[in-house]
Amino acid sequence: MSESLSHLTAIEAEARSAFEAAADEESLKAAKAKYLGRKSPLEAAFAEGIAKAPPAEKKAFGIAFNEAKKRLQEMVEAKERALSAATPAAGPALDVTLPAASRESAKITPLPRGRLHPITRIRRDVEQIFLSMGFGVLTGPEVEDDYHNFEALNIPKDHPARDMQDTFWLEDGRVLRTHTSPVQIRAMERFRPPIRTIAPGRCFRYEAVDATHENTFYQVEGLYVDKGVSVAHMVAVMETFLKAVFETDPKVRLRPGFFPFVEPGFELDMACVFCKGAGCSVCKQTGWIELMPCGLVHPNVLRAGRIDPAEWSGFAFGLGLNRLAMLKYGIDDIRLFLGGDLRFLERVG
Ligand code: PHE
Repeated sequence: MSESLSHLTAIEAEARSAFEAAADEESLKAAKAKYLGRKSPLEAAFAEGIAKAPPAEKKAFGIAFNEAKKRLQEMVEAKERALSAATPAAGPALDVTLPAASRESAKITPLPRGRLHPITRIRRDVEQIFLSMGFGVLTGPEVEDDYHNFEALNIPKDHPARDMQDTFWLEDGRVLRTHTSPVQIRAMERFRPPIRTIAPGRCFRYEAVDATHENTFYQVEGLYVDKGVSVAHMVAVMETFLKAVFETDPKVRLRPGFFPFVEPGFELDMACVFCKGAGCSVCKQTGWIELMPCGLVHPNVLRAGRIDPAEWSGFAFGLGLNRLAMLKYGIDDIRLFLGGDLRFLERVG
């Protein structure tokens, strides 16, 4: 063996014992840099040996160098794998049997609690109350056709409710429903009387937004159709409902109101639950809170639902859910509902 070759072998042996001795990833890395880096003694021995070797031996010397280097590389790789398998991936070992750190000692800020939107909460409450009275819960489309939103509800073509100022019209002649009343028609198309149902949902009107007006709001429609249904039934259902929502026994009164799809039509007021009728800022000193429009279903509407008005009658109401939530949770600006301000959502309720 030539002198150059034995020098190479000696360096390889030195490198092997250095790799062998490395007890952790740090020292292996250092040994690797030393023996396999660009300025390693192995490279130096090669450069020197290849220069000195007679032409006939250059090739064999080159091969010997490459093989020595390859053996060392394989050894380092194997050692790297062994060490990383032995070392945990990150951080200190986890002892799952230790007691949990208290929030104080661990300096953990409490996780923010998610909550339901006030509209969702009041809607669920309302649904629960009507379900307990034997009503079903229906939904209808937010994009409605003219027929269901207006025509079948006895709203003629020239009625001001269709005005461009109130209604968002789509190019194809459909509308963003302006109320939940079209679900009355859809309920009658789907079910035969007796019908007892509510229909909560989102409605849209082309309105200038202020503290009491929104272009997007929520209603709960009610429809009750049976034999011999009268205003007294309607009042009884409303009183039962209000008692459950406000957890008191509010007095109600009816004032005449006009809606093309009811006859007679009413505005139902409730004695102010805050001042018990004495007068306060919520009821604007009147002692009464205007709560919902309602009335007996117009015969034309029953006919549109293929129900014979000679045989059946019914009542309907349109409860404004935003207004109900504002009263129940003391919210004074309707814009807060869709404003997306988390401080509002955290505070309410
Ligand atoms: N749909 C009416 C509105 O939004 C409310 C209403 C519903 C009135 C049912 C009477 C009966 O203004």
